[in-house]
Amino acid sequence: MGNPDGPYSFEQRLEIDRLERDLVERMGEANPKRLAHSLSVARTAEELAITYGVDPYLARVAGILHDWDKVVPRDELMSRAKALDIDFGVDLALVEPLLHGVVAARELPEVYPELPSEVFQAIERHTIGACDMTSLDAVVFVADGIEPLRTGTIGIQETRDMVGKASLDELFWNSFVGGISYVLDTRRYLYPGTVEIYNELVLRRSGR
Ligand SMILES: [Fe+2]
Repeated sequence: MGNPDGPYSFEQRLEIDRLERDLVERMGEANPKRLAHSLSVARTAEELAITYGVDPYLARVAGILHDWDKVVPRDELMSRAKALDIDFGVDLALVEPLLHGVVAARELPEVYPELPSEVFQAIERHTIGACDMTSLDAVVFVADGIEPLRTGTIGIQETRDMVGKASLDELFWNSFVGGISYVLDTRRYLYPGTVEIYNELVLRRSGR
């Protein structure tokens, strides 16, 4: 209580500082916008976590690292995904925008073995979602969609306005469907796995 560093222990504070420094080194020059986005997602995830009773440390840490591999060139990311036997059931080139989370989730445990597996799962799920999102997964997914530096479409603003009023489940559902709408609006390729998750969630939500 009264800790100026927020809800964290000394060790957690050190780890957050270290991860932020590593991120600055990794993307500060190559992609300062991505760096700012990542740090903003981390803060937003931390706030959401506090609001919804999720561990803010895990949310903050997952937020910092969620786009770790977003700065890897497209071809290299695809070859890493192939080397890791990552299988989306479709040509990897079609799902290239979704790969960075999955590849990072497989590679980061070696870089940061001290972090628990929940953090890596949240990173893996931040682009695609899942039928059985944990609260931490949902917090990171939603934070990625609504962090304040993201230009607000109507859908994003709607989700922002729901924070603290709706359940975390509802927030995730809104963000998830908003993501699909965006893909449709911009006439992009929609990954069939996303449609499967969508349909499964519709059935679960209607109690079928
Ligand atoms: Fe992101």
